[in-house]
Amino acid sequence: MLALRNADPLVLPSMLLCDFANLAKEVANLEEAGFRALHLDVMDGVFVPNFSYGMTIVNAFHQCTKLPLDVHLMMQGPEKYVEQFHASGAHSITFHIEAVDDPDSIIQQIHSLGMAAGVAIDRDTPVSAIAKIIDKVDLVLVMTIKAGFGGQSFIPGLLDKLREIRELGATNPILQVDGGVNAGTIGACVDAGAEWMVVGSGVFKQEDFAQANRDLLQHCSIDQS
Ligand code: DX5
Ligand code: ZN
Repeated sequence: MLALRNADPLVLPSMLLCDFANLAKEVANLEEAGFRALHLDVMDGVFVPNFSYGMTIVNAFHQCTKLPLDVHLMMQGPEKYVEQFHASGAHSITFHIEAVDDPDSIIQQIHSLGMAAGVAIDRDTPVSAIAKIIDKVDLVLVMTIKAGFGGQSFIPGLLDKLREIRELGATNPILQVDGGVNAGTIGACVDAGAEWMVVGSGVFKQEDFAQANRDLLQHCSIDQS
């Protein structure tokens, strides 16, 4: 997963809106369209009001593709399930800082299984909540909406958190954004320092995935003005 870190921005399709009745075909189309990793949103109906899917579906993706699977756990008590998500094929696991009591311990657990560890901060959580662990994680996911549902509108002010993270002196973690990212908003994310962009509706509401990928990447050039 971390091998995907390079100078180029990376777009990760969020699979919430994919056609689950034709999973293998959807994934093959995304591969052909040039996407290089998939983002899987696990929601437990407790941490967020919505319920999505668990490790059985993560494993179904794993059976369909060799693309790295970036698993975003929107669940309370994620530490109880790290091993099962690993066994199901996850390459990285991102937990929410709001959902754990002992972030150090879950980071260690994820690393001990050879996965990349990410921490997510929801809309109302300040960057200070992750200051102590920022150098221990591989990925920081800044939500650009309130976590829980696809298709919400991007909140531009939340991009300030990316700058705050860099101001903390954190150079190690990859900066990822998630929520309302599309061809109209992705440029601002890259300008603010985001490296990996999660895109749901902005891919799945398009007829042609390859065109969607090209459109998104085209808007990623950094504004030098
Ligand atoms: C929402 C999820 C997102 C969501 C993004 O809480 O974490 O990954 O699927 O969907 P869009 O791009 O439609 O906002
Ligand atoms: Zn997500």
